[in-house]
This record gives sequence, C-alpha cells and structure tokens, in this order.
Amino acid sequence: MKLLVTGGAGFIGSHVVRRLVNNYPKYEIYNLDALTYAGNLENLRDIESASNYSFIKGDINDMDFINSLFTKYKFDGVIHLAAESHVDRSITDPLAFVRTNIIGTVNLLNAAKIIWKDNFDGKRFYHVSTDEVYGSLGQTGLFTESTSYDPNSPYSASKASSDHFVRAYGETYGLPYVITNCSNNYGPHHFPEKLIPLFINNIIQEKPLPVYGDGNYTRDWLFVEDHARAIDLVFHKGKNAETYNIGGFNEWKNIDLVKLLCKIMDAKLGRNNGQSEALITYVKDRPGHDLRYAIDASKINKELGWKPSVTFEEGLEKTIVWFLKNKEWLDNVTSGTYQTYYQNQYK
Ligand SMILES: NC(=O)c1ccc[n+]([C@@H]2O[C@H](COP(=O)([O-])OP(=O)(O)OC[C@H]3O[C@@H](n4cnc5c(N)ncnc54)[C@H](O)[C@@H]3O)[C@@H](O)[C@H]2O)c1
Repeated sequence: MKLLVTGGAGFIGSHVVRRLVNNYPKYEIYNLDALTYAGNLENLRDIESASNYSFIKGDINDMDFINSLFTKYKFDGVIHLAAESHVDRSITDPLAFVRTNIIGTVNLLNAAKIIWKDNFDGKRFYHVSTDEVYGSLGQTGLFTESTSYDPNSPYSASKASSDHFVRAYGETYGLPYVITNCSNNYGPHHFPEKLIPLFINNIIQEKPLPVYGDGNYTRDWLFVEDHARAIDLVFHKGKNAETYNIGGFNEWKNIDLVKLLCKIMDAKLGRNNGQSEALITYVKDRPGHDLRYAIDASKINKELGWKPSVTFEEGLEKTIVWFLKNKEWLDNVTSGTYQTYYQNQYK
C-alpha cells in the first residue's frame, strides 16, 4: 500500500500520520504538506526517521506538481486533510480557502482519477471534512449524514464544495471515495489560534481570554487521537461512497468550557481558584457565527463499532499536561521558530 496523506504536518494530520506509521510497518506512507503557517514538522519529530515514512514538501494547488507526484509514486490510497482550517482567517481571506480547499481537492481527485483509470481495485480517496458544512443547529437536534448542507462561513462553504466534488467524482467517474464529517477536535499539537490551545497559552501568560459574543455558542468536542483512530478505521473498513459523521457526544457552551479550563489550569499552576477566570473578556462577535453544532455519530458506531475512547475530562487533562510539558513547542509556535525546522532538518 502506497498511501498519500495530505496536510500531515498539521494538527489532525500529524496524529493520523503517526498512527499509520506506527500501525502499518508494511505501508509506504507519504506525507505531502505545503508547510503553511499551520504546518509544523516538529509535530512528527518522533517518527520522522521511520523506514515506512517520507515527507514531501509541496502545494496541492499546483496541478502539474500533483500530477507528476501521482505519476511518480502511483499511490493506492489518499487520505486528504490538507486545508485552510481557521474560520476567522476565511472571513479575512476567502480566496485562500477557495484555492486550497476546493481547487486543491479537485487537483488531487483529478490526479487520482488519471492514475487509477479503469482499475479501482484496492483504491480509495478519503476526504476529511467537518460538521460545519451542515450549518447551525437551534437548541435541539443533531447533524446526521442526511442533514442538508447549509454552510455559513467561507471556510465551511469551501469544505462543503470540496465534499460535493468528491461525491461528484464518485458518481461521474466511479472514483472510490469515503467522506467523514467531524466535530471540533482538541489535543496535543493544536495550533494556538484555536480556542482550547489559545486559552491554555493565554492562561499560562496571564493574558486576556477573548470570548466571542455572550459565550453561549455550543460545540461538540472530540479528542484528536479518537479522530485519528476513526480515520484509520473508516479508511480500512468504511463502505465505498459513504459519509460517516464523527463526534464526541460531548457538547459544551464556550463559556462553560473556558471556565472549566480556567479551573483546571489554576490547580495545575498553583494559582488561586478564580484567578484565571478573571481573565475572561467578552469580545465583539464573529460575523455569521453558528450557534450550535452537534453530531449524531451513531452510524459509525453501529457499522464500524467506533466510539470515543477518552472522556472529555481525561482528554482535557492530557491536553493541558501536554502543553505544560511542551513549553518549547509552544514557544517555537508562538515565536515562529517552528518554520525553520524544515530548513534545518531537510535542507
Ligand atoms: N480542527 C478541527 O477541529 C477539524 C474538525 C473537523 C474537520 N477538520 C478538517 O481536518 C483537516 C485537518 O484540520 P487541522 O485542524 O489539522 O488543520 P491544520 O490547519 O492544523 O493543518 C492543515 C495542514 O494542511 C497544510 N496545507 C494547507 N494548505 C496546503 C496546501 N495548499 N498544500 C498542501 N498542504 C497544505 C498545512 O501546512 C497544515 O499542515 C482539514 O481538512 C479540516 O477541515 C478539522
């Protein structure tokens, strides 16, 4: 099995790559990543010299490069995670999201279609997507695999579009595919622009904790290693041309989550209970902010036996301990030093 993972230097991708490299010694695993601000090869330091692992620096937007890469390696499978992934950035620069999330995905689909033509046996294109494509829920209800798409941000619109292209390549050309739509992830190596790592970092530094609007936005949280395990399972056992929703059965209002984080961090840092909570600052709401996301993950549970293995309390504890122990990683990310790692390591 020659397996291409895109975006493997990012947050979720690095957990997926590590899992595959450790669990499948006979596979050849190629990690293709452009190393944008979100790509950090330090995330994979522990497996970078494994004999079944290779890193390729490259951009999925570059069609000629992608075609030549597929022709050279003749991948049997693709797990596609590379994306622009931050909603706030999509509001300031939507075109970057159109390029990578839509055009980049179509470049990969095309290249796979060209090399797999007429021989789809043992081939699979796995597209990793988000629950945000379904739009916003009210106070009740859950997203199922048959919920209509209703994206509200440029990020979710670009991911929705890429999902449609993957499905269209399946319908039109017979390309074997599977798609998963997952809820919010958290865990080690999370880039500190997203809520949980940003707040952990700000609490350490006693900086304000900016909470959007009234803090009542609700998200379903999943520990990243449980997502990586689901991706491994769906890639190997999921049915062709199917979508699976992945979630943590774990809804939290942002404000309650932040207060919990403050409480655990105060205890870990030996601060007075309430010290970090005093840092909470309500800020102007994000435009088009979705009120609530919640996933019904019963299909993947019934068909493939997957469920989260870690409770939120355990996952949050592991995450906080990891960030406190890996100060160098956090310092390198916040100072930008991580971007020199590729130069030093792979020059
Ligand atoms: N983070 C979440 O909570 C979450 C939830 C559900 C789904 N997802 C999806 O999972 C995937 C990974 O998310 P993440 O949080 O790990 O993202 P991330 O931003 O941490 O990582 C994205 C990776 O893609 C790479 N990349 C970006 N543009 C590229 C390009 N043009 N060519 C090649 N590589 C490029 C980056 O360098 C980075 O390593 C995304 O597709 C995202 O939509 C994320």
